[in-house]
Amino acid sequence: MMNTVLVLNGPNLNLLGVREPEIYGRTTLADIEEMCSISAAEAGLGIRCVQSNHEGGLIDAVHEARETTVGAVINAGAYTHTSLALHDALKSYDHPIIEVHLSNPHARESFRHHSYLSPVAAAVIAGAGARGYVHAIEILAEKLRRTDSAE
Ligand code: DQA
Repeated sequence: MMNTVLVLNGPNLNLLGVREPEIYGRTTLADIEEMCSISAAEAGLGIRCVQSNHEGGLIDAVHEARETTVGAVINAGAYTHTSLALHDALKSYDHPIIEVHLSNPHARESFRHHSYLSPVAAAVIAGAGARGYVHAIEILAEKLRRTDSAE
C-alpha cells in the first residue's frame, strides 16, 4: 500500500509501560501503535509497525520500507546515539523521517546528547511522551500533503 508509514521502534521499547515509567511513562508500545494507527487513518495513511532489539533488524526494516512506505516515524532507542549503520540505512531511505523520543535526551546524560538520526530527520520530537508519536504522524502527514501538492 503506497500510503503506508513505517513506525519503527528500537531496543527496549517493547518494555514501554514497565521500563523506567518515571522517565518513559506507563503507555505501552501497543497503546502507542494504536494511537499512531488512529492518527494516520485520520490523515488517510496506514501504518506498518516494527520493533526490534537488534541493530540489523532495524536496518532490515528500513531497507524493506524503501519501496513500500512513504515516510517513517522512528524511535531508535539507544541506537540513536551509537548507530552509524542505521544512519547510513536511513540515508538510503528517500522519504521524510521524523525522529521521536519519549524523553528529552538533551536534558539527560551527556551520552544521550548526540543523535546519528537527527542529520537525516526532517523533524525531531523529544520530551512529549507518547503524544510525541501522534505529533510525528501529524507532521509527517502534513509534509506528505505538501509534497503531493507540489507535484
Ligand atoms: C529514548 C531515549 C534514548 O536515550 C534511550 O536509550 C531510549 C529511549 C526515548 O524515547 O526517550 O531507549 O529514545
